[in-house]
Amino acid sequence: MSAPVNTDAMSNPGDRVHAPMPGAEALAEPMRSRWSPSIFDDRHVLGRDELIRILRAGQWSPSSGNLQPWAFVMAERGGPSHVALVEHLSRGNAGWVPRAAVVIITAARVAADPADPDGSRVKAAALSYYDLGQAAAHMTLQARSMGLHAHQFGGFDKDAVARDLGVPEHYRVVSGIAIGRRGTAVEVDDRDREREQRERHRRPLQDFVHGAAWGSPWGEEAR
Ligand SMILES: Cc1cc2nc3c(=O)[nH]c(=O)nc-3n(C[C@H](O)[C@H](O)[C@H](O)COP(=O)(O)O)c2cc1C
Repeated sequence: MSAPVNTDAMSNPGDRVHAPMPGAEALAEPMRSRWSPSIFDDRHVLGRDELIRILRAGQWSPSSGNLQPWAFVMAERGGPSHVALVEHLSRGNAGWVPRAAVVIITAARVAADPADPDGSRVKAAALSYYDLGQAAAHMTLQARSMGLHAHQFGGFDKDAVARDLGVPEHYRVVSGIAIGRRGTAVEVDDRDREREQRERHRRPLQDFVHGAAWGSPWGEEAR
């Protein structure tokens, strides 16, 4: 099957060859055209206003008890926190991540702040991770709605990054969200070029949607 061409209003010139997304055609934007490219334009810079709009999407995402148990480090390409992150990327991420205009390093609050136990309640670490993931998804989609692309990643030494950035003990570094504009394939190595062409697969709905009881299929339409 050939890759669908993205012709909607959110297309950028670099988006014309879009990685395949079978089954996602009926989704609303920006979910429909969201995917995780690995070729970023390493000259593209994001303005402060754009970054703030993306962060606002995380700020206004829902969270359990409205505790908002997240924190972010803005690693703008070439800046000190970016340099610290790049040093600890996994081999597979070391080529493409540094090219993105910015990486939002995410952290979840997993314990109360010892200096302020009342002001930083934590319900359960699992809920903090849930809420952080939701904030990350909101930022990812906000970026897409602005014509940008985001690629989340977990492949880096989080303890080393936390140490180098001075992240306090009651937060856990969880992921990075690389955000930017797509670059051209000639500028990257074979591995990152090939990564963009991979078919995108998803488990069928019947694998993870249950009906009358766990294990009973839900609806004919679930496939
Ligand atoms: C928490 C998390 C960690 C991820 N870690 C990596 C990573 O280390 N390297 C990478 O290239 N992609 C990483 N990804 C991207 C996924 O591989 C990608 O989202 C998945 O293959 C689905 O592709 P799509 O986003 O294009 O739909 C990660 C995504 C998430 C949400």
